[in-house]
Amino acid sequence: MNEDETCCGPKSSQSCCESDCCRPSSSTSIEDVVRESYGKRWASLKATKSAQTKSRASMDSAHDALLKELMPHEGMRVLDIGSGSGETVLAIAEKVGSTGKTVGIDFSSEGVKLAKENAKKRGLESIAEFRQAHAVELPFPDNSFDAVISECVVCLIQDKQKALNEKVRVLKPEGRVIMHDVVTWAPMPKAMREDKGLYCGCIGGAVSLNEYVEMMKKAGLTNIKTVDFTKSAKRMMNLNAVAQELEQRKAKSAREVVDFVRKGGIGYALLIGTKKPA
Ligand SMILES: C[S@@+](CC[C@H](N)C(=O)[O-])C[C@H]1O[C@@H](n2cnc3c(N)ncnc32)[C@H](O)[C@@H]1O
Repeated sequence: MNEDETCCGPKSSQSCCESDCCRPSSSTSIEDVVRESYGKRWASLKATKSAQTKSRASMDSAHDALLKELMPHEGMRVLDIGSGSGETVLAIAEKVGSTGKTVGIDFSSEGVKLAKENAKKRGLESIAEFRQAHAVELPFPDNSFDAVISECVVCLIQDKQKALNEKVRVLKPEGRVIMHDVVTWAPMPKAMREDKGLYCGCIGGAVSLNEYVEMMKKAGLTNIKTVDFTKSAKRMMNLNAVAQELEQRKAKSAREVVDFVRKGGIGYALLIGTKKPA
């Protein structure tokens, strides 16, 4: 990840940390703020014939580790929650081949549209499918997938436990949840939690690694493994830019964000869990 990128994407593009998302109207629900913000981002991008790292919104090193862990192979069925532009789904589609299936769901219609166009341009429409759906209500029967993945998405979901329960429900017994996300290493100040801009900038909704692990266990996952990516995430998340943005609009949380970040309150991690046998 180079210095021109933020947690939510390249600085040069409309990343959620630098778009209108940082100035949401107080009457809009947090879910609508997230949907609209990412909708704008995906709508600003054009479908391409070749893979585009920069149209993904998540972190490169954790993304590579997720793919390594997933080991996509012929015939595998994989679901990606919050698939955005579809880049990860399409990369996996090339490995699972015509006997496999990769499905991406996203609640932003613009994301789904862009992902479908990308699939068409790359001739992967028959393997990669994209649907508009909410992470807490997946439109699939129980035990449908070998693996369910997500990249920088659970931090944006308010009912995290429900989203994890859904991931596990659609997973086949002994299948795996593999996800990477923003984590906290210290209790986040209330003002930060309540800031809608920081929430959709992937920060305000983050919880601690232990909380994620406990929720994964409660959802029915065992053999949970975690890998800390905080070091490589630091530059990528460009938190100074976020703090500057907050300062500009005189947000009361600007000082707290800076202090919290300086003290190492925000991090990034890969989490893996296995569904119990039937
Ligand atoms: C930070 S972006 C990550 C996109 C993609 N996973 C990537 O790595 O590029 C978060 C994505 O999750 C989607 N999203 C957020 N909350 C969601 C929810 N509750 N249900 C479905 N999609 C959601 C957003 O629309 C957005 O496309």
